[in-house]
Amino acid sequence: MQRKYPNLCKPIKIGNVNFRNRMFSAPMGGTDITADCTIGRASTAFYELRAKGGAASVTVSECVVHPETEGSHMYHLDLQTVGSLSSFTYTADAIRRHGAIASVELSHSGQFAGTYLTDRDKKRGLAQWGPSAGVRPDGLEVKELTEEMIAEIVAAYGNCAGLAKRAGFEMVMVHGGHGWLINQFLSSYFNHRTDKYGGCLGNRVRFAQEVLDSIRKAVGVGFPIEFRMSGSELFEEGYNLDEGVEIAKLLESRVDLLHISAGTYQRGFGITHPSMFIPHGCNVYLAAEIKKHVIVPVATIGGLNDPAQMEEIIATGKADIVEMARALLADHELPRKVMMNRNEDIIKCLRCFTCMAERAVTSTRRCTVNPLIGRELDGTVVTLASHPCKVLVAGGGPGGLEAAITAAKRGHKVILCEKSDQLGGILKGEQAIPFKYEMYELGVTLGNLAEAVGVEIRLNTPVTKEYVEKENVDALIIAVGSEPLVPNIPGLKGDNVIVVNNYYLEKDKVSDQVVVLGGGLAGCEAAIHLAQEGKDVHLVEMKTELASDANIRHRPILLNEIEKNKIHVYTGYKGLRVTEKGVVCVDTAGEEHLIPGTTVICALGQRARRDMVENLIDCALYVAQIGDCVSPSTITTAIYQGYHAALDI
Ligand SMILES: Cc1cc2nc3c(=O)[nH]c(=O)nc-3n(C[C@H](O)[C@H](O)[C@H](O)COP(=O)(O)O)c2cc1C
Repeated sequence: MQRKYPNLCKPIKIGNVNFRNRMFSAPMGGTDITADCTIGRASTAFYELRAKGGAASVTVSECVVHPETEGSHMYHLDLQTVGSLSSFTYTADAIRRHGAIASVELSHSGQFAGTYLTDRDKKRGLAQWGPSAGVRPDGLEVKELTEEMIAEIVAAYGNCAGLAKRAGFEMVMVHGGHGWLINQFLSSYFNHRTDKYGGCLGNRVRFAQEVLDSIRKAVGVGFPIEFRMSGSELFEEGYNLDEGVEIAKLLESRVDLLHISAGTYQRGFGITHPSMFIPHGCNVYLAAEIKKHVIVPVATIGGLNDPAQMEEIIATGKADIVEMARALLADHELPRKVMMNRNEDIIKCLRCFTCMAERAVTSTRRCTVNPLIGRELDGTVVTLASHPCKVLVAGGGPGGLEAAITAAKRGHKVILCEKSDQLGGILKGEQAIPFKYEMYELGVTLGNLAEAVGVEIRLNTPVTKEYVEKENVDALIIAVGSEPLVPNIPGLKGDNVIVVNNYYLEKDKVSDQVVVLGGGLAGCEAAIHLAQEGKDVHLVEMKTELASDANIRHRPILLNEIEKNKIHVYTGYKGLRVTEKGVVCVDTAGEEHLIPGTTVICALGQRARRDMVENLIDCALYVAQIGDCVSPSTITTAIYQGYHAALDI
């Protein structure tokens, strides 16, 4: 058979190990770390899912090599802790039994120890050790590692790698990027030592070289060592790509795979984990440049989720391997779908940062578009219902579609009714905003998947009580969503006003000067887009801060975009009336102002369609209400509730 993406699907040998394709699952932090700092069962199931989905290798994230100088609550692999080796062994097994290569990331955070702690106060009790003494941006003191301590850490890397091999891991990844300890040694921004570990680049790479030698001694020749580094630190005082190339050259003889990431966790989070405002594959150029100077295979990473783009990267020799983190949360079956020429079925990552925000705030794992994430132990296969029945789903938004797909997979006969002529619900509105296009695509892909599993889709079909009763269904899932909130502000229903949800239909009407009324997430994102289109944008918000509904990872990046795009912001301003010249607002001191703009975008939120829900609530024996019609919320809520409503039938 002919594979659509032959280069992406081609096996590769690294060291003595054969990998089944070029799509690797990049490290993603474990969340259920036991009190003994070993891998919990939920994390094992999380990594296993990626192996099942067809990734060539799955890297278990950050195993801390030297807890004595790190102290954060992360995985440790040692022989002193009862169950430590066995838990790692079970995890390696879980990955290997699906044909993926199990790898583990060996790490030390150095001066940033404790970054991942959800309980921020605990950080204060940790010892923060770095190449050089100093004070961190958050005010914590950093102590300089002595040469004896360095020797201990170097030995610990080897010890840990040896144990990982014993546990069944077939590769190790050394974390030398993103601002952690090895990166700190490499970078003259962090490293001010005057001994053999500081000064010239030859000295600054010494720690990395010793670490790699220690690991090689423990694992032997042919056992692949992957070195993750930032091709450039991407901030002014950090090292640049030229130095990144030199670092790669100085390390390549000791490694089997160079994994080129970008930036640092602390500065440029949105580039290390490329945000939705940045093009896909924005960091590929770093790997491509380094690849020109080395012989060992090179991997690239950062915002990759499109098979065609990844195929091109490999076909044109920019990299030998593509690594993905978030794309494999969104769709753990992405590699399998690529292998099977089913690329159109891939659910793409939205780069919304729900995953990283949840991890930081609640120490749990979640993905907006994949209801299995964080729930892997509850079962990852949809099983057939014992009594198949007739199900009607009212509403073709993301929640309704997820419910319909899941119910059909369970063997139910499913009819999905959508009142408009197109599926996608509120996501339809995202098609005109390029950085949110994947949200629109989500609706399209779910629609295709629903059809593929036999859901009967009826467009232009509003669901009434009579309609449901006539269909005589056993189960009804109400997913009728929400409608825009357009309060009784004089002029707000005028011709110069466009409701944000309808922007995609009326965008040609937008003039050069725009007031966006409502600075929540939707308003902020619309404002950024309009400013990117060259409009003079004025953003009005009644609360004292913008985007209070955005998650903690997305919000700072969003605010930065608002600043970067020179949007005029008015917080604490309440709209009183809309005129031809703009919106008259009152500030917190009671003073009135005209905010100028000949077009007004109304982004004042959504209201649940409760009247429709109440009308339908007694139309079937089993009735579930999901998503925005319960209360306006997120895509995550809609997808999770849709999936579970179908399982609960
Ligand atoms: C939920 C989550 C957890 C992560 N945890 C780690 C980690 O423990 N160690 C690490 O080196 N990188 C970690 N990363 C970074 C990824 O490995 C990757 O470098 C980054 O997300 C960019 O790739 P992507 O655009 O494919 O997501 C994490 C990323 C995510 C989304």
